[in-house]
Amino acid sequence: MPEEHFYSLKRQVAVITGGGQGIGEGIARRLRAAGAQIAVLDVNEANARRVAASLGGLGLACDVSSDASIERALAQVRQELGPASILVNNAGIAGRTLLLWQLEERDLDEVYSVNLKGVFLMCRAVVKEMMERHYGRIVNIASIAGKEGNPTLIPYSCTKAAVICLTKALAKEVTQMGNITVNSISPAVIETPILEKVAKETVAYMVSKIPMGRMGTVEEVAALVHYLVSPEASFTTGQCYDISGGRATY
Ligand SMILES: NC(=O)c1ccc[n+]([C@@H]2O[C@H](COP(=O)([O-])OP(=O)(O)OC[C@H]3O[C@@H](n4cnc5c(N)ncnc54)[C@H](O)[C@@H]3O)[C@@H](O)[C@H]2O)c1
Repeated sequence: MPEEHFYSLKRQVAVITGGGQGIGEGIARRLRAAGAQIAVLDVNEANARRVAASLGGLGLACDVSSDASIERALAQVRQELGPASILVNNAGIAGRTLLLWQLEERDLDEVYSVNLKGVFLMCRAVVKEMMERHYGRIVNIASIAGKEGNPTLIPYSCTKAAVICLTKALAKEVTQMGNITVNSISPAVIETPILEKVAKETVAYMVSKIPMGRMGTVEEVAALVHYLVSPEASFTTGQCYDISGGRATY
């Protein structure tokens, strides 16, 4: 195979949730550079449009916690770009950084509705058309918090653990439905705007746990996602890939 074809995403349509900034934006840029047509779905419509415009793609308002909002956005993706062959469930929120007994019920509900329900609804909306076409790549952005449990981030940690499990179960459901893989990744701290909403002490705690002694970059995460959504990554499914500078021990 000629070198320029390695990990090529030509003729593929990639839907990236939360692609209006941070890790999602980095993933959108990387997948576009590999040849994919990009649809950026974000609750922040201005950012979705800004990123998509710079990539010649489609930027749409979408709240992943709402099935109606997802259906509206995906109908437009299908009409303008075609069915999605790649789905990156990246939209996520950290929630308030407080101890469990300081949190209110709504803190859990808010984080759950974006981080877990959002992934569930997006997968449900896209996987059927992947099954019809016998091809698809889904990557869910979990977190090291979902493996280890970060203090002051209990709703976040729990929903990310659930995303890892959703990934494993869905991967098994679709193994006989064609060349469809479903994987997750678990980044440690990555330098993005999400950290502005997390208490400084919590960020310091998370960085101190990383043997490499630094935060990861958006580009490093995008490179891993690029591999996982490529046609070459065809014998790997249901896995949670580490990208934690050595923090993860399993
Ligand atoms: N930055 C980190 O240290 C880190 C570490 C591990 C995992 N993650 C995960 O990576 C993903 C991206 O994080 P980031 O650091 O780029 O965060 P970010 O806050 O910079 O970006 C998140 C994006 O998601 C969008 N979004 C939020 N709620 C949404 C909703 N309901 N519907 C659609 N879009 C929505 C936001 O508008 C934003 O554009 C998240 O799932 C996060 O949990 C981040």
